[in-house]
Amino acid sequence: MHREDMDEFVEQVTAQSDLLQVVQSYVPLKRKGNRYWGCCPFHGEKTPSFSVVPDKGFFYCFGCHAGGNVFKFISLMENISYFEAIKLQAEKLGIPMPQRQKTPQEIARDREIADLRKVNEMARDFFHNCLTLTRLGEPGKAYFAGRAISAETIEEFKLGYAPQAWDKLSTAFLKRGVKQEFLLAGGLAAERQNGGGIYDRFRNRVMIPIADERGRVVGFGGRVLDDSTPKYLNTPETVLFNKRRILFGLDRAHRAIKQAGYAIVVEGYMDAISVFSAGVKNVVASLGTAFTAEHCKLLLRYAPAIYFCYDSDDAGQKATIRALSIVQGTGAAVRVIVVPDGKDPDEYIRKHGAEAFQQLVKKALPLVEYRLQYVLKNYDHATLEGKVKALHAMLPVLTGIREPAVLGEYIKRLAQSLLLDEGIVRDELRRFGHQSLPEDSGPAQREPIRQAVRRTDTALQRAGRVVIRLAWQDSGILQHFATMVPLESIGDNSQREILLILQEIAAQGQKINDAEINSKLSEEAVAELSRAMVEELGVLSETEAYDNALRVLRKAYLNRCYIEHSQRAESLARAGDSAYVAELNQAQKIKSEMEELQFE
Ligand code: UTP
Ligand code: MN
Repeated sequence: MHREDMDEFVEQVTAQSDLLQVVQSYVPLKRKGNRYWGCCPFHGEKTPSFSVVPDKGFFYCFGCHAGGNVFKFISLMENISYFEAIKLQAEKLGIPMPQRQKTPQEIARDREIADLRKVNEMARDFFHNCLTLTRLGEPGKAYFAGRAISAETIEEFKLGYAPQAWDKLSTAFLKRGVKQEFLLAGGLAAERQNGGGIYDRFRNRVMIPIADERGRVVGFGGRVLDDSTPKYLNTPETVLFNKRRILFGLDRAHRAIKQAGYAIVVEGYMDAISVFSAGVKNVVASLGTAFTAEHCKLLLRYAPAIYFCYDSDDAGQKATIRALSIVQGTGAAVRVIVVPDGKDPDEYIRKHGAEAFQQLVKKALPLVEYRLQYVLKNYDHATLEGKVKALHAMLPVLTGIREPAVLGEYIKRLAQSLLLDEGIVRDELRRFGHQSLPEDSGPAQREPIRQAVRRTDTALQRAGRVVIRLAWQDSGILQHFATMVPLESIGDNSQREILLILQEIAAQGQKINDAEINSKLSEEAVAELSRAMVEELGVLSETEAYDNALRVLRKAYLNRCYIEHSQRAESLARAGDSAYVAELNQAQKIKSEMEELQFE
């Protein structure tokens, strides 16, 4: 596929996409002048702060600062990449994508994956129908009833039952033309030891379909109906099913995770199903493996915080501690939901109800607090040796605390609980790596995107957006602006990024290609650009708005130059260098221009 073909394809999809129509298919909007308002689908709110300006092709939420063009919107709603959003929209519009010649191996692999997906989907329907429509499903039905799992939940999660037989699924699928190798590759069947055919992997188990974050079935978990072992049997690793990456329930939970601002992670899919059915929908489960760094990365795409809610037995606590260590250093805010009396979330909900569980979520402990309680409970700190061990167990989490006041508080509490001198705790902490305690609290962590966007808005930033908006329409304005304020000097990172890209495009004599720019800009810059396009100029005409914005930004720029020249003059003068006179003159000139701007 040639680059030009691709550009033309994207241009065509852009031209035929109607932002307003796309947004309205998800969110009800009300018209006010040339813009439309609605409640933001990306965060919970009751009064609309989500705005769409169809002429400009941008949406922006003044509450959570999500923003972008039509493809960004689709990618956020459907939880897919920007390019996938373009492809999805092209499919809807019936615009064919230019094809690159694929190698025969690639074609074969694509076909294999597509076929496996289809077989998995068939299997999900097979198990589900077996449970809900046939007499063979009775034991499964009885099992779910015994766990108080409702018919709605069975429908919602497409739960199923694998019948008590050796080859029901295999025979049915072979008859329907599914090749034996796919049943084997998908982990639905296994080969008989002494030659001669295959047999079903899942038998007499209730079946839980496991999907990827886009809702495509990639595997199954099957639970026995009694106390025999293994309790759960999962699909083995296949091309589709990678336990280190997959989180059960993410396909249903991702919007709720975005809205709540955090994801809840539980240990088992039955827990996730229970919690979800109790109305807490931002829940996912890892699949019987430890929580991995990949899981963490996946979740941070949706929200900056993760709450762990593992079983309160020993194994669960250990798993929590392990998960916390995985998450540390990723910038995620972490809490732990503590389920009392040795229960897992599912048992807790069954015993105490949905409301009680929601209360537990509200009382989730911050990471350090949880760790402190755990350490005090599990280390025998009566002995000196125990004290040292407990102290060392606390050091890694203490190192992660950035606010000096909070750190001080925990140091004090830890010292008191262990009957140690505070100075000792501080010394150990410093030795452990909190080098410059207490002035500086450790290495800067990566700020989760949502928080980074939520920064304070200054007059400078407002002025910057006016310039961006007008420069977008008219490269002449950008040229003029750049002579008055060097773009590199713009203080806001996103705004500087946008203006420099616009300048680059203008320099190459190209016209602005919205889709291309959006794919080049950082996420923060896309949001800022959208905000610039959506924000109202008030009663001002465009020229007036530009003049005002220019004055504000030019003044800030001059101010910075003034300070620089004055400082240089001062140090030159101190060093006895007569060049200071020239610097002072410069500073003076700048000052008088600043004063003129004052009176304009
Ligand atoms: P648990 O043993 O905590 O199961 O395993 P649970 O969720 O409480 O199950 P119920 O309530 O008895 O039905 C947690 C997770 O560990 C994996 C599964 O993914 C399960 O959801 N697991 C557990 C297995 O893969 N195999 C097993 O034999 C047991
Ligand atoms: Mn359980």
